[in-house]
Amino acid sequence: MQKPHSTPRIGVLISGSGSNLQAIIDHQKLHSNLYEIALVISNKADAFGLVRAENANIPTMVIDHTQYNDREAFDAKLQQTLEEAKIEFIVLAGFMRILTRGFTQHFLGKMINIHPSLLPKYTGLHTHQRALDAGDKEHGLSIHFVTPELDGGPVILQAVVKIDPNETETSLREKVHQQEHITYPLVIEWFALGRLSFKDNQAWLDQKILKQPQVLSKTIS
Ligand code: GRF
Repeated sequence: MQKPHSTPRIGVLISGSGSNLQAIIDHQKLHSNLYEIALVISNKADAFGLVRAENANIPTMVIDHTQYNDREAFDAKLQQTLEEAKIEFIVLAGFMRILTRGFTQHFLGKMINIHPSLLPKYTGLHTHQRALDAGDKEHGLSIHFVTPELDGGPVILQAVVKIDPNETETSLREKVHQQEHITYPLVIEWFALGRLSFKDNQAWLDQKILKQPQVLSKTIS
């Protein structure tokens, strides 16, 4: 993978609606010299995010995981595709595939994910319902570097939302989504500006280790 230059080539991996992809597209349009969304890859041919990308004239590709014998073969194709497209930073935006250790290690420090919970709480699926079932007062999202541990890499940024007494899974998902659309482009901007990096298994912002993840209400410049 190449070193970021002034306009890094970003690859976005999706499986579904792509509302986060849309937020990134909209942000990129406003800051067109910052980064280029050079490729959108989906493992599902019917992902609506592909339409969003096509509407923005972004190259797309479908790599259907059902056509591969195992995760290694699928990830090998993914890696080859990303490298051929000279992608420098990978953004997982609702990409519903568990990636192999080899793939995550290959792109270590060059791949981020957005997860709808305040990690380390609620790795995996159904995070909104689990927060409601636990009687939590707060929920949110985490943006983190991807490491071999599922939803376990160093967290870069979190945003917190309040859980109201009458909250439902749908309303909570919607609240978290709104914050996702604000925060994910911001973190990509940090990378594009050279402010965000990964070293010694830790996330760094402005040459300082992020010992505590940045929390939206306390940061943002
Ligand atoms: C988001 O909630 C994100 O946190 C999770 O997958 C969902 C993707 O939504 N990883 P969308 O496809 O971007 O609308």
